Amino acid sequence: MLPDPSALRQRMMEIDWFHRIEIAPGMVTPGKIDPAIRVAGLRLPEDLTGQHVLDVGAWDGFFSFEAERRGADRVVAIDSFCWSGDGWGSRAGFDFARQALGSHVEPVEMEVLDLDPARIGRFDIVLFLNVLYHMRNPALAIERVASVTRRQLILETHTDLNDVDVPAVALYRPGELWQDETSYCGPNLPALEVMLHDAGFDRVEIVGTASKARRMARALLHEREYGIPRERTLRQGWAVVHAYK
Ligand SMILES: C[S@@+](CC[C@H](N)C(=O)[O-])C[C@H]1O[C@@H](n2cnc3c(N)ncnc32)[C@H](O)[C@@H]1O
Repeated sequence: MLPDPSALRQRMMEIDWFHRIEIAPGMVTPGKIDPAIRVAGLRLPEDLTGQHVLDVGAWDGFFSFEAERRGADRVVAIDSFCWSGDGWGSRAGFDFARQALGSHVEPVEMEVLDLDPARIGRFDIVLFLNVLYHMRNPALAIERVASVTRRQLILETHTDLNDVDVPAVALYRPGELWQDETSYCGPNLPALEVMLHDAGFDRVEIVGTASKARRMARALLHEREYGIPRERTLRQGWAVVHAYK
């Protein structure tokens, strides 16, 4: 029997959401971000029939449920910081959405650095979306993610030092990036390429970056709102990278 929509809505409103997720026709979770607008930029394959997908740092699970919706045979979602209760959120949203959607996504509370094929298996496609810049040791994190990737990694991350043409990683003091104590690093594109190749990916494709106009708009906003010189923010951006074994 379908749950009563008003009871469902009431339970939904009691949760502090990160992702907006349509959990029933016309019923969207009141998340801070709308991940649906990122899907096209990630170039997630339309048809995931038969694929095993791992979503690393899933939080409320939008991308895990999206992979399942696109036909993936098996989807595993891992998270630790938020799901363990130490982070900005909890697992309540993921559990609620999973139930409301009748989903079979498998949640596993696990640290990125604990990823190990002997514990969790290997996956045709691994999603590593907006987690890398939280890592104190990005190269090691990419190595662990590579160890559980059978074929393709889809990586999305904040970048920095985009004006430097050799591999380089910016490190942040606590709270320096977006006043977020947990943002530690911003690699540039050459650094991402080096780390991914070193971790065993043969082919690395940068499939998306922030446009200059968007970076300028953000730099002006941050200068006005937080007093951060625009030259500093202009070096920053984001990237979507596909890496293949
Ligand atoms: C910015 S959110 C991104 C959520 C989602 N992947 C997305 O792109 O919308 C970062 C997520 O990574 C998780 N995370 C941070 N550090 C982690 C770690 N060491 N191991 C596992 N998950 C981690 C956080 O709990 C959070 O859910």
